[in-house]
Amino acid sequence: MARRIAIINQKGGCGKTTTTVNLGAHLTGLGKRVLLIDLDPQANLSMHVNIGVAGLNASVYNLLTGTEAVEEVVVRGLSCGMDVVPSHIDLAGAELELAGTVGRETILKERLDQFLAARPEAGPDPAYDFVLLDCPPSLGLLSINALTAAHEVFIPLQTEFFALQGMTKLLDVVQLVRLRLNRSLQIGGIIPCLFDPRTLLSREVLSEIQRHYGRQVFRSVIRKNVKLAEAPSHGRTILEYAPESHGAADYRALAREVLGLPPEEAAPETATPEPAEAVAAPRPAFADPAGDAPLPLGGETAARAEPAPAPGTPDQARV
Ligand SMILES: Nc1ncnc2c1ncn2[C@@H]1O[C@H](COP(=O)(O)OP(=O)(O)OP(=O)(O)O)[C@@H](O)[C@H]1O
Ligand SMILES: [Mg+2]
Repeated sequence: MARRIAIINQKGGCGKTTTTVNLGAHLTGLGKRVLLIDLDPQANLSMHVNIGVAGLNASVYNLLTGTEAVEEVVVRGLSCGMDVVPSHIDLAGAELELAGTVGRETILKERLDQFLAARPEAGPDPAYDFVLLDCPPSLGLLSINALTAAHEVFIPLQTEFFALQGMTKLLDVVQLVRLRLNRSLQIGGIIPCLFDPRTLLSREVLSEIQRHYGRQVFRSVIRKNVKLAEAPSHGRTILEYAPESHGAADYRALAREVLGLPPEEAAPETATPEPAEAVAAPRPAFADPAGDAPLPLGGETAARAEPAPAPGTPDQARV
């Protein structure tokens, strides 16, 4: 069965789309089959993988508000190697249009269930290994649809001041969806993004995130990298655009962690690093699981390679 992961944070610009595209690209590079779903009216993900959104006949908007099936909307044959359900600016009106529709929170889940079940390859060996859902920077109906359709939640957090602001609200919403709409929803983990190892602030915020959320923070930290910022304007993933960059290395490490693979041996530095990245980012170990991790984060990524919990601290203690 495909792992369905919602990449969500209502905070804007924290790395959701960059993570969805480049985590997906590296999972593909590691031999996995990946479907991306763009749930943001800004359509940043669709443009990042070089889909001409202006000329689209159908998008996720038609999926949510009309009768189209995923099969009629999905874009295949992209250079990134992933299939994509694109977005469109029309999606901005979908929440209002659906305001009076009964069951509006579960439309995406139903369409996705039908699509995955109907594929001829479906069965014990599913057509996709991963479905990654890129959420908009809000906790409205589009995000609720993503959380209802997903099994796991990944939360990119920018390692800057105010990073943790809004986390309680986000976790409340995840908890509510879990209680009312999707019992199987789990928190897969927090992904520290846009980390700048040269600044004290970035390092302090990272250790605060790790102290607060402990084992629920991925060990892989995504550093600030200009190649990651440039890749979307070329319609390329980081794997296509700059496979030797730090950005590619960080997302490869994240993809391996998501798959439960051991970290790669650190290769000797061959290329001259960009000045802004001359300092290697630390690969922080998980904080003491018995430490301070009080928020209702739910479960953890089953496949994550991590130390065993300390005796007397079962996962449920932190649910
Ligand atoms: N690690 C990184 N290094 C450098 N630039 C980055 C990095 N991650 C993201 N960016 C850039 O930061 C900006 C915001 O990133 P992104 O679009 O992924 O965030 P987002 O959370 O999806 O934003 P939104 O909330 O608007 O959807 C983009 O211009 C992106 O190219
Ligand atoms: Mg985005």
